[in-house]
This record gives sequence, structure tokens and C-alpha cells, in this order.
Amino acid sequence: MNRDASLKNHLIMKNITPGGVSSPVRAFDPSPIYVDSGKGCRIKDIDGNEYVDLCMSYGPLILGHSHPSVIYAMERQMKKGSVFGAPSIPELELISEISKRVPCAEMVRLVNSGTEAVMHTIRLARGFTGKKGIIKMNGGFHGSSDPVLSDNSQTTLKKGITACTASDTYVAEYNSPEQIESMIEKNDIAAVLMEPVLGNVGVIPPEKDYLQKVRNITKKEGVLLIFDEVITGFRLAPGGAQEMYNVTPDLCTMGKIMGGGLPAGAFAGRKDIMSLLRPEGPVVQTGTFSGNPMTAAAGLAALKEMTNERYRQLNNATEELTHSMTDSLHDHDMTASVNRVGSMFQVFFKVDKVTNAPCAQKCNEKMYMDLFRRMLDSGIYMPPAALEANFTCTEHGRPEIQKIAEEFGKNLRCIA
Ligand SMILES: Cc1ncc(COP(=O)(O)O)c(C=O)c1O
Repeated sequence: MNRDASLKNHLIMKNITPGGVSSPVRAFDPSPIYVDSGKGCRIKDIDGNEYVDLCMSYGPLILGHSHPSVIYAMERQMKKGSVFGAPSIPELELISEISKRVPCAEMVRLVNSGTEAVMHTIRLARGFTGKKGIIKMNGGFHGSSDPVLSDNSQTTLKKGITACTASDTYVAEYNSPEQIESMIEKNDIAAVLMEPVLGNVGVIPPEKDYLQKVRNITKKEGVLLIFDEVITGFRLAPGGAQEMYNVTPDLCTMGKIMGGGLPAGAFAGRKDIMSLLRPEGPVVQTGTFSGNPMTAAAGLAALKEMTNERYRQLNNATEELTHSMTDSLHDHDMTASVNRVGSMFQVFFKVDKVTNAPCAQKCNEKMYMDLFRRMLDSGIYMPPAALEANFTCTEHGRPEIQKIAEEFGKNLRCIA
């Protein structure tokens, strides 16, 4: 497959933006593909190659690229104006839709990204409880604000983040409620912040009753539970992971799908906590583009398309795909774990069970990258990193699912 035009542009880009990309995970050697257009579950690069997309922009595109309802909503809103710095009806409608769907969302505040949502939620949790500490999960990712990029084990202190900021972030192992309990007992903890399904070290589901146990512990200890549903929100079910697992946190963060493909974020939760936000209370959150009607119109159009039936079909199609991937791995006598929740999945080579980040990090990343490159040459674009998630969308039909399964099987032969 010829990708000369992508390579040529990458060489120019590398001189004008670090690593040639606007977010580090997109980089791979010799060059990321430059995407020209996307339609449904397919993208085309600037060399004219077409790929079935399994990266799906890391999660927002549950309806695929350029969905007609989303385009219509955006075009209609664009003609009326894109941002007013004052309330608008699309904003009201998106907030209503979110609070109708998401169990914990008695009140909602719209922001512009998942990073922002997490940053404000942490401030709000501290403001409400008067405590400092945040417990996050090993392998969890919550965007790029300082408190969640670092933690108090000196080993993960990132350059540019002060030790003082890092000192208030504690790390527990996912799927280990006992660690959370003991950390809460020993420290001044405001909140437990967790992705209910880990989605940034591949995909790792919660073990039976784990989320409920964490809910019980936090409730008993007077610590807030925050689900980071930036990935899982509106992906696993209409009300996200909290609906799927029937565990309601005090607060949650959202992003990705709720913007219909435009930059988006939100946080939501109990009214007594959310009411502490300005202008009702003393906790600060501001944003020029927060709740802008373009994102709200696009997000609302996307959410309205996602009925229960569509979730069922999407999750079933993804299950079919991961079953046949598992069968191919057996046929080739390869040790690997295929983890899936709803329409997100990942393959971990050379490990047979992945229940937390240390297990995931033991996988053979070189084999994944070999698979990634071979799949790319077969016309399938997976995320270019072993510890990311693959995503399917409603436009991955039977022919695409079959093609992915077939190419996966063929390419396994070469990396085995
Ligand atoms: C769970 C989770 N939280 C927060 C974020 C940050 O969101 P954004 O990239 O919109 O800032 C991400 C991004 O991938 C995420 O996966």
C-alpha cells in the first residue's frame, strides 16, 4: 500500500509540531496516515487508500463518520450561529437528554473536553468534602490535568508537575476494593475517581460486584465516588457503565460521544454537590465555549439516534467479532486474552487473563504493533498502540465485521 503523501506531509509536520502530531498516541513509524475523509465505519487517507476504522477517533464516533443526522443538526445550527456566550435551546436540550439517560445526573454542567470535566469534578469534590486526596486506579487515564497525570509514588512524578500536586493523588489497583478501603482509612480522601471499565490500558472489565463494593466502601466512609465515563458514557448503554452495572456514583464525567464528533465534555451528579458550582455556590468553573450550541446540537442528534435496540445490535456485532478473533487465536495455538465490554475491545498477546494494569502491561506490545501494521496494509485501521481500545460503531455491518475477522485470522499466521 502506497502511503507516500502521508509520509511527505509527516516530514513537514515534524518540523512544525512536536513529533508531527497534535496528540502523542497518534504517532507511529514511519508516519501516521493523513486522513482525508470518513464515511460510516470507513476512512480514506490522502494517498487514496481506504480502511475499515476500528480506532474511531478513540471513542466519540459511535454512529461512524459523517452521520447524516449529525450533519443536518450541525448545518442547521451553524447557519444560526456557533457560540453566543449565553444560554441556548440546544444546550438545554442536551442537558435534559443527559439527565434523562444518566442515573447519577440530577444536575449537569457542560464543558469542552474530558480533561476539563475531570479537572472541575476534582475541584468540586474537594470543595464539597473539604478533603484533599484523590484515589485513582493504576492504569486509569483521566486526561491531561496535573493531579491525574501524576501520583504520590515518586516513580511516576512527571516532568513539569510539582511534587506538591502529586502528593494528593493516591493509586489503587483496579479490581481490588480492599486497597481502596485501606487507603481511605489511612488518608484524607475526598474522592475515588475511576473509569468503571478501564479503557486506557486496553479494555479491562470490572470483576463481579467490584463496582458495588467500591460504592459501599465510599458511602460508608463519606468519600465521593466519581465515575469517569468519558469513554463508557453513552457507549455501553444509554446511561453508560453506571446503567450497565447498576451502580450509581455521586458524580460522573463525560465527553466523546456526547459531542457527536465535536469537542465536548460534561460532568454531572447529585444536586447537593453540583449546587456548589458558581453562580449558585463558591466552586469555580468557567468556559467561553462551554455549552456552545454547535456541540450541543451535534451531541443531541447523536444521542437521539442511539436507541436501546441500536446498543443491542452494536454490542452483539462486537461480541460476534471478538468471538471469531478468539477462535482464530485458538486455531493458531496462540496465548492471548481478548477483552470486550459492549463495543470496546482489545487483544493482549502472550497473557491469558487481564484483570488489572500490571497484567495488561505484561502483554507482548511488539506482537500487537506487528499485527497493527499488517492490518493497516490489509485495509483495517486499529489504534496504533497495544494499550488502547478498539471501538466499533453502528455502521460496522456484517461485511465489515467479517472482513476484520478474516484479516485478523490471516495476519495472525504471520506474527505467530
Ligand atoms: C477516561 C478518560 N477520561 C478523560 C479523558 C480526556 O478527555 P479529552 O481527550 O476529551 O480531554 C479521556 C481521553 O481519552 C479518557 O479516556
